[in-house]
Amino acid sequence: MRVGLLGAGNISRQYLAALPRLSNLRLVAVADALASNADAVAQAQGIPARSVDELFASDDVDVVLNLTTPQAHAPLTIAALQAGKHVYLEKPFATSIEEADAMVAAATTAGLRVGSAPDTVLGTGTQTARALIDRGDIGQPVAATAFMLGAGHESWHPNPAFYYATGGGPLLDMGPYYVTSLVTLLGPVESVTAMSASPREVRVAPQGAPRAGETFPVEVETTVSTLLRHVGGAVSTLVVSFDVVASTLPRIEVYGTEGTVAVPDPNTFGGEVALGRQRTFEPVENLAGYRDSGRGYGLSDLARAHAAGEPHRQSLELGYHVNEVLERVLESAAAGAVVPVRSRCERPQPVPLGDDPAAV
Ligand SMILES: NC(=O)c1ccc[n+]([C@@H]2O[C@H](COP(=O)([O-])OP(=O)(O)OC[C@H]3O[C@@H](n4cnc5c(N)ncnc54)[C@H](O)[C@@H]3O)[C@@H](O)[C@H]2O)c1
Repeated sequence: MRVGLLGAGNISRQYLAALPRLSNLRLVAVADALASNADAVAQAQGIPARSVDELFASDDVDVVLNLTTPQAHAPLTIAALQAGKHVYLEKPFATSIEEADAMVAAATTAGLRVGSAPDTVLGTGTQTARALIDRGDIGQPVAATAFMLGAGHESWHPNPAFYYATGGGPLLDMGPYYVTSLVTLLGPVESVTAMSASPREVRVAPQGAPRAGETFPVEVETTVSTLLRHVGGAVSTLVVSFDVVASTLPRIEVYGTEGTVAVPDPNTFGGEVALGRQRTFEPVENLAGYRDSGRGYGLSDLARAHAAGEPHRQSLELGYHVNEVLERVLESAAAGAVVPVRSRCERPQPVPLGDDPAAV
């Protein structure tokens, strides 16, 4: 597929680093509301910079890679679909259920594909853990814990305001990695319950940060503790926070009747998987997933699936479901009640151990 990059900011560098390894993708053009960002990528990649409208109207673009900030995901995805382009977008899928519904309607009307980050779950980390669970190494899965505990992105990000604006926060920002991983490991979620906290009205970028001393208003819950009931019966505990200075808690563990699998950081593609039995953990060699992968592998899988006439793994249904789970968590925290999740999705096809998403 010929790729039009939309949003040439911080994360675009990771995609640009992986794209040359992905044999079924070719970058052909770039657009950004900030011309200097588009020009810098255009120059480095030897491709034209276009306006956003020009990118959508380009005959040489098959898929728009939407790496803009969360608040622009839905409107730009819908506009790209209406212009006849497939779309692969960064997380979060949308900033509300209404936006997500509108994206599904646009994709259905257009008959085009939408794929959604995170594709980290296609790497050897989450996929090896899934292979262990699927072949019965931990017995019947019963529960999982997942912790994303940090002090906030204002310490390193050049433009951190969006993380504290509506549509940001640790749940919509980091939750997609954890919930996509939990859905990959344990299947879809049928209900949620949550509580949240937001101790500061304003965040200040610390000394040494790119925006040191600048303040950012907080419109979101910055700590969220939640329980997720999976359709299969397992129960996951998820805690996400931008208020934690230090923690020793593991990223994800899945507990079964006969063992535990320790899953690496779902914001990375690899990492060590360990199998725990009777108090000791043994590292597990890679059993499944794309080796040495990076951001963009999910788009390559979408291109392969499109050519083969098959469903792609980071599907519209998966992105929508994860987004609904996150929105229901916020609803539950606000209402103090258990909230059902309406949508369902299939667990994506497992990824066999390999290097090239164009092949498997
Ligand atoms: N930075 C990270 O480490 C990281 C990691 C994974 C995912 N993401 C996700 O990637 C997305 C982008 O994050 P980022 O860190 O690159 O942000 P960023 O602010 O560095 O870059 C976003 C780019 O999109 C452009 N943009 C915003 N609105 C636009 C619009 N309406 N039309 C055209 N261009 C527009 C901006 O000018 C900017 O160049 C977010 O959804 C974020 O959650 C970021």
